[in-house]
Amino acid sequence: MSITILGIESSCDDTAAAIIRDGYLLSSKIANQDIHKEYGGVVPELASRAHMQNIIPVVSSVLKSAQLDPKDIDAIAFTRGPGLLGSLLVGTSFAKGFALARKIPLIEVHHLQAHILIHFIKSQTYSKKEPKFPFLCLLVSGGHTLLVVVKDHLEMEIIGSTIDDAAGEAFDKSAKLMGLPYPGGPFIDQFASSGDENRFKFAKPLIPDFNYSFSGLKTSILYYLRDRLKEDPDFIKSNINDLCASIQKTIIDILIDKLIKAARQTGINQIALAGGVSANSGLRKRFEKEAAIMKWEVYLPELRFTTDNAAMIAITGFYKYQKGIFAQQEIAPMARMDF
Ligand code: KG4
Ligand code: ZN
Repeated sequence: MSITILGIESSCDDTAAAIIRDGYLLSSKIANQDIHKEYGGVVPELASRAHMQNIIPVVSSVLKSAQLDPKDIDAIAFTRGPGLLGSLLVGTSFAKGFALARKIPLIEVHHLQAHILIHFIKSQTYSKKEPKFPFLCLLVSGGHTLLVVVKDHLEMEIIGSTIDDAAGEAFDKSAKLMGLPYPGGPFIDQFASSGDENRFKFAKPLIPDFNYSFSGLKTSILYYLRDRLKEDPDFIKSNINDLCASIQKTIIDILIDKLIKAARQTGINQIALAGGVSANSGLRKRFEKEAAIMKWEVYLPELRFTTDNAAMIAITGFYKYQKGIFAQQEIAPMARMDF
């Protein structure tokens, strides 16, 4: 018997819905919220209001594109956390209402576990390689930087995390210092492609174990730019490509050094990337290069599945459904949430 799951994602500023049937993606839609660009970051109150406006049209749109009716949905999965509470509340309330009205199971999903499980979406059009357990996943997003040992679909252990900023924040905050729009990660990626990555040197942290730190890098960029701008007010404009390439290389070096250390110490050679920053072309290239040297078998998410989406929520829901792990109507969203 087929299992059809509707997934809902509303943890930050994207309202997303997707439908997965037996692990295959039938439809996935995302309503982005451009309003935050004006403010240089996500404004929580505006995000939750936009989610309220977007959620019903986005769900209607995935149902229509999958040529399904609400009665064809067997269970609804939603992001419980971590994320912005007001934003999470919109997706949670919608999912509860839908489950209650349709008398179907409700499934809570951890946003970060879902980013990792994106690797298990099957494709009807090509044969897709899935990571074998246990695998190591470097999860790099706007809010988190984690090294995770994935033992099974629903059994994951965090072995390293950031002690301050996330990798995505390092990109976005560096971009902001250079006057680039929010979120700055994709702009840095774009400018970096024609820059010299060895032109400028920025501080790298000395943090023990498999943990990360990115706040020192931001400070190092801030002071460097401040000094250069005193001599030449056009310094950023005339060096934007080299600055972006050098900043991007520093972030990638920090990420990859710990990944290599973790792979060596755990003895795991199945390595995956996930999260918004895994869209970065420099990181993807470097990851493939290290894989060849280290003899890793690597897994890169499709670009459309790197940033927030609901396909990852629906696939996680699919695995929980198979195990009968369901939530109650009393469930509340959580801004912070353990694995
Ligand atoms: O996973 P995600 O969509 O949201 C969170 O759960 O945080 O990640 C968003 C982050 C932002 O910081 C954004 O700048 C970064 O991913 N990002 C990139 C690229 N595309 C998105 N960073 C570097 N290069 C990119 N191409
Ligand atoms: Zn995310």
